[in-house]
Amino acid sequence: MKRTKIAGIGMYVPQNVVTNNDLLKYMETSDEWIQERTGIKERRYAQRTGETTTTMGVEAARIAIERAGISPADIDFIIFATLSPDYYFPGCGVLLQRAMQMKEIGALDVRNQCSGFIYALSVGDQFIKTGMYKNILVVGAEKHSFGLDFSTRGRNISVIFGDGAGAIVLQPVNANTGQAAQGDPLAGSGQGILSTHLHSDGAAAEILAMYNPGTHANHWVDQPLADFNDNEIGDMFMSHEMIDNAQNFPFMDGQSVFKKAIIKFPEVILEALNKNGLQTSDLNLLIPHQANLRISQFVQHKLKLRDDQVYNNIQQYGNTTAASVPIALCEAWEKGMIKEGDLVCLAAFGSGFTWGSVLLRW
Ligand code: ACO
Repeated sequence: MKRTKIAGIGMYVPQNVVTNNDLLKYMETSDEWIQERTGIKERRYAQRTGETTTTMGVEAARIAIERAGISPADIDFIIFATLSPDYYFPGCGVLLQRAMQMKEIGALDVRNQCSGFIYALSVGDQFIKTGMYKNILVVGAEKHSFGLDFSTRGRNISVIFGDGAGAIVLQPVNANTGQAAQGDPLAGSGQGILSTHLHSDGAAAEILAMYNPGTHANHWVDQPLADFNDNEIGDMFMSHEMIDNAQNFPFMDGQSVFKKAIIKFPEVILEALNKNGLQTSDLNLLIPHQANLRISQFVQHKLKLRDDQVYNNIQQYGNTTAASVPIALCEAWEKGMIKEGDLVCLAAFGSGFTWGSVLLRW
């Protein structure tokens, strides 16, 4: 049976470290408030110019490709997850293809915010399992620092996010699934992705969202374009009113997000374990999306996991959305916390709401 394995992994975070105290220059906040509510001590911000979501993705991809023992020319599909693309369109996948001088391969952008990397990994897994591709590059990258409200008005969100990128190379592996006896906790324990689980609930889509620019704008309602002058037509995409109302910045009802996250995170982790006949005690490492340390701690407590079974690095990098899972996975692997044969669960929850998990044997 063919499975998908992670053949190479890389991460990139910008040099520029921004501490909680550094944010006091822009807004009324405190190191104490930020650490107590989120666990974050510092984050990285990309250079204002010259460094983009794509360039950071390229840096992480180079490392992942090298560690997989292949070259950019061997990649036959790109999946790029981000909510902060270089351009409104086209997506970052094609920019990465150009920057890395890859062949004229397919490039897909995934817009699932915090669970973007889990969705992207799941899509890549299907293409590998069907035999369609042999070397898929999956990237999660964000340059949040360019689009946050750094005034006191936006402090509940802007203190949380950071910049960075993570990347993996997916390859097929022949899974040795038949040897373990039925009922054995290691049944189905061959290397590779055991299962992926994706969910969404759009009922609360506006609870964590950036509203504009977007085609929902009321200006369009029932009036022919001819009724508007040139300036008004330009305003439909991004009006002064939208900017004055901070609608070009993300909005978050933090408490509602928190309440939903602490239900869905454990649910989707247990779904993955149950699907494979495994228990939380079998898990070597859980890599949760680094949304907020309090959410991770709640999940750990709910699932009765030991400290050494959960990896968190939000303290150093903040919430890097689509990049957070691959950055945490890469860092944990580089620290020697993931060894061959280990059972690893990746899980994320975020805007949409969308959430998901990936269970894999390293
Ligand atoms: N510094 C100082 N004070 C602040 C800040 C700040 N950065 N932000 C908000 N406050 C103040 C508010 O103004 C408010 O003051 P008031 O009581 O005088 O009106 C007070 O703190 C409480 O504000 P809340 O927004 O209710 O703060 P809350 O306790 O809910 O904490 C937080 C905010 C940390 C976002 C919390 O809701 C939370 O953990 N939510 C989970 C959502 C999350 O983690 N999202 C991450 C991104 S989404 C994702 O990745 C899934």
